[in-house]
Amino acid sequence: MCGIIGYVGGDEVVPVLLDGLRRLEYRGYDSAGMAVLEGGAVRVLRAAGKLANLEQRAYQEPLHGTVGLGHTRWATHGAPTEANAHPQTDAAGSVAVVHNGILENYAALRAELAAAGCRLRSDTDTELIAQLLGAAAGSLLERVLATLPRLVGQYAVVAVRREEPDTVVAFRNGPPLVVGLGDGENLVASDVTALLHRTRRVLFLENGDVAVVRRDGVRVVRGDGSAAARPVEVLDWDAARAEKGGYRHFMLKEIHEQPDAIRNTVLAYLDTARHGVNLEGLGLAPDELARLRRLHLVACGTSWHAALVGKFMIEELTGLPVEVDYASEYRYRRPLIGDDLLVVGITQSGETADTLAAMELARDGGAQLATICNSRGSSAWRLARSRLLTQAGPEIGVASTKAFTTQLVALLSMALGLREALGRADHRDAELVAELQRLPLALEQALAIDPARYELGCELLSGSADSLYLGRGILYPIALEGALKLKEISYLHAEGYPAGEMKHGPIALLQEGFPVVAVVPDGPSRDKLLGNLMEVRARGAAVLAVTAGDGADLAHVADLVLPVPRVDPLLQPVVAVLPLQLLAYQVAVALGLDVDQPRNLAKSVTVE
Ligand code: G6P
Repeated sequence: MCGIIGYVGGDEVVPVLLDGLRRLEYRGYDSAGMAVLEGGAVRVLRAAGKLANLEQRAYQEPLHGTVGLGHTRWATHGAPTEANAHPQTDAAGSVAVVHNGILENYAALRAELAAAGCRLRSDTDTELIAQLLGAAAGSLLERVLATLPRLVGQYAVVAVRREEPDTVVAFRNGPPLVVGLGDGENLVASDVTALLHRTRRVLFLENGDVAVVRRDGVRVVRGDGSAAARPVEVLDWDAARAEKGGYRHFMLKEIHEQPDAIRNTVLAYLDTARHGVNLEGLGLAPDELARLRRLHLVACGTSWHAALVGKFMIEELTGLPVEVDYASEYRYRRPLIGDDLLVVGITQSGETADTLAAMELARDGGAQLATICNSRGSSAWRLARSRLLTQAGPEIGVASTKAFTTQLVALLSMALGLREALGRADHRDAELVAELQRLPLALEQALAIDPARYELGCELLSGSADSLYLGRGILYPIALEGALKLKEISYLHAEGYPAGEMKHGPIALLQEGFPVVAVVPDGPSRDKLLGNLMEVRARGAAVLAVTAGDGADLAHVADLVLPVPRVDPLLQPVVAVLPLQLLAYQVAVALGLDVDQPRNLAKSVTVE
C-alpha cells in the first residue's frame, strides 16, 4: 500500500527512482509519480494507473538530476487520478512531497487553507502537507519542524525543496521509513526491498524522527530539533531473493521457496542437541510465566488464518486457553486484558495498522506482548518484547504463501517453548521437533505433485463464479486460507466453511458441477467429513479433495484427489495448504490475471 523512494547521490535519479518504484509495485498501487530537482526547479511527473504509464511520461518528457522522490499511490483521499497522484507541490511549486498514510485532521486543515486563500488542486491530504511546508519559513528542516505539530494522523513523508537541491527530508509517524546508506549516495524508502539492490546498510526511523538525507551523510533529529542516534543495521536479505529468479511470477517462486523458508525458520528456533526449541519461554521472566493464564492472537488476513491454526497448537501443547481475533475487531471490542495475558501480534510485514493498534492496546492494558513477524526492525518488531522472526525472506506476491507457512512453524515452536517453560514437556516434544526437521522434505514432496493433476481442478474452479472450501478441526483454517487465495488472485468468489456447518446454509448453493474443495483430515473427523462429501455428491456438485496419504478411500466421493505427505496432525496444515496455493495460482494464470498484483489489494495495509 503506497511506496516511497527518495535518492540523493551521483547517479541520474530517474532510472534509480523508477527501479525503486518497480521494486515497490508489489505493495499495491493505482497511480505513480516522481519529482526531480533540476536546474533550480522541482519538476514533477505523474500518471494514473501502472508504472508503465509513468515510464512512458518520463520517456516523453525526460528529467535530469541526481536528487529526487518517487511514489506509488494506493488511493485513500481522492480517486486514483493524475491530479491526486504524488508528489504533491505547494502553491509556488517550491516544495514537493510524497506521503504514505492518512491525515485525520484533513477536513479542518483543508478548510483552514481554503479560508486563507490557498487554491487546492487535488483531493489529497498530501497536498495539505506540501502547502503547509511551502507556507512555513526557513530551511526545509525548519519548515518540517514547524509543520509537525499541525499534522494529526499517520504519515511517512519525504520532501524536497528547490532552494536546497542537495537535500531530501523524511519524517514519520506511523507508516515506516528506512534510510539506506550507500557509497556516495543515500536513499530513503518505505520498504527495504526498494533499497536492497543498492545497499544493505540501513537505519530505521522511529515515530517522530526527522531525517535530513544528503549525499555525504544523514542526520536524524526529533520534533524538538534535538539529535537522535539510530543504529545502523546490516540486513541479511539479499537482493536476489526479491527477484523472480526464472519463475513466471513471484507467487510461484515463493510457493516453491517454502521448503527452504521452513528449513531456515526451524533452524532458527531449534536446539537440535536437546531435541527442543531454543525459545527460553519467549524471554518471559519466571514471574511473568507464573502469572500467564491465557493468550490472545491478533492478526489480519492470511496471518489471522495462521492464528486460527495456532490456537489448536497452543491449546493442545500448553493447556492455556487461546482467543483469536481480527486485529480490526480486537482494537474496538474492549477485550479483557490483564497481566495474566500474552498477546501475540502475527504479521508478515510488521506494519499492518490494525495489528499494531491491537498490540498497542494490549501493551497499554498491561499484557505481555509478543510478535511473530517476517520483518526485523518493523513497527511490530519494535513494539513487542518477545519476538519470533520468521525466516521467509522478502515476500513480494500480494497473496501470502511462504510467510503463512513459516508463521505456522513459528506458532508451533512458540507453543513448544511455552510448554517447556511451563514444565509440561514430555516425549511428544522430541517427536514434534523431529517432525519439524522432516517438514521441509514433506513440503518438497507435496510440491512435486504433477501439475497435470491440477488441470481438472483448475477447469472446475475457473468455470464457476462461486466455490465452497470445507475443512474440519485444525484444517478448517486451511479451507479458509485456500478460499482466500482463490478470491485474492482470481476474483472468483470462494467461501471457506467448517464442513459440519455446511448443512446450515451453504448446502443450498450446491448444484450440478458446483466446485467443493475439501481439506480432509485424518483421525476421527475423517469419516464425518466423508459423510459431508457424500451429501455434496448427492447434489451433483464436484469434489476436489486434499488429503494426507494416497486418498484411496476418497475415490467414491472425489472427482480429484490431491495427495500430500502425512505428518503430525499439528503440522498437517503446513503441508495441506500447498496444493490450495498452487490451485489458486493456476486458476489465476488460466484466467490471464495479474497474479502478483491483484486489483485493489495491497501487500502491506498501513492504514486502518
Ligand atoms: C494484506 C495482504 C495479506 C496479508 C494481510 C496482513 O491484506 O494482502 O496478504 O495477509 O495484509 O498482513 P500482515 O503483514 O500483517 O501479515
